[in-house]
Amino acid sequence: MLTRLDLRHADALEVFLAGFDGREDELHGYFCDRDASIERAVAELAAWESGDGLPDGWVPCTTLFWEDDGALAGVINIRHHLSPQLEQVGGHIGYSVAPDHRGRGVATSMLGGALAECQRLGVDRALLTADTGNVASWRTIEHHGGVLLKEEPHDGIPQRWYWIDIG
Ligand SMILES: CC(C)(COP(=O)(O)OP(=O)(O)OC[C@H]1O[C@@H](n2cnc3c(N)ncnc32)[C@H](O)[C@@H]1OP(=O)(O)O)[C@@H](O)C(=O)NCCC(=O)NCCS
Repeated sequence: MLTRLDLRHADALEVFLAGFDGREDELHGYFCDRDASIERAVAELAAWESGDGLPDGWVPCTTLFWEDDGALAGVINIRHHLSPQLEQVGGHIGYSVAPDHRGRGVATSMLGGALAECQRLGVDRALLTADTGNVASWRTIEHHGGVLLKEEPHDGIPQRWYWIDIG
């Protein structure tokens, strides 16, 4: 199930983040410092959701984790609206599944929950971007009705832009 980070997740968060050590480029959707305490991480995520303390150029965002039997298996970050930069790459939603939990439908389930959250936020059309080479990511998007808008290189890497109608 999707859940907000809570103090009770201290150990589970450490295990989750350790899964990305050495593969930090695969961790999308969680932007607190690797070494932030659970108290700081919980406070930071809550503040960013309310639009407080946002780093320059950021928009308010909601961060949710996929919790499975006490473990944190994935993270998904929902941007409440687009900025010019997010329109170019990133879109409304970014997500990652911990390596040990991949290939079991976690990303597909998380994106379904995140789209429901988008609806609550008044986002009726979500933009998502994925590397063309990241088949698992764009299949997740297509599973939820993503319509390919364009495909072209961004910073030299082939990229796909999708819209998902939510309303
Ligand atoms: C991309 C990622 C989120 C997929 O997570 P996941 O939980 O393994 O995905 P799911 O199990 O829900 O599978 C989603 C789809 O991808 C397919 N898939 C899963 N692993 C795959 C693989 N290695 N190669 C090809 N397709 C794959 C599944 O069959 C499914 O497609 P379907 O709906 O047509 O059956 C995960 O690999 C990851 O975290 N990667 C690093 C970060 C990243 O790339 N994030 C996305 C960019 S924002």
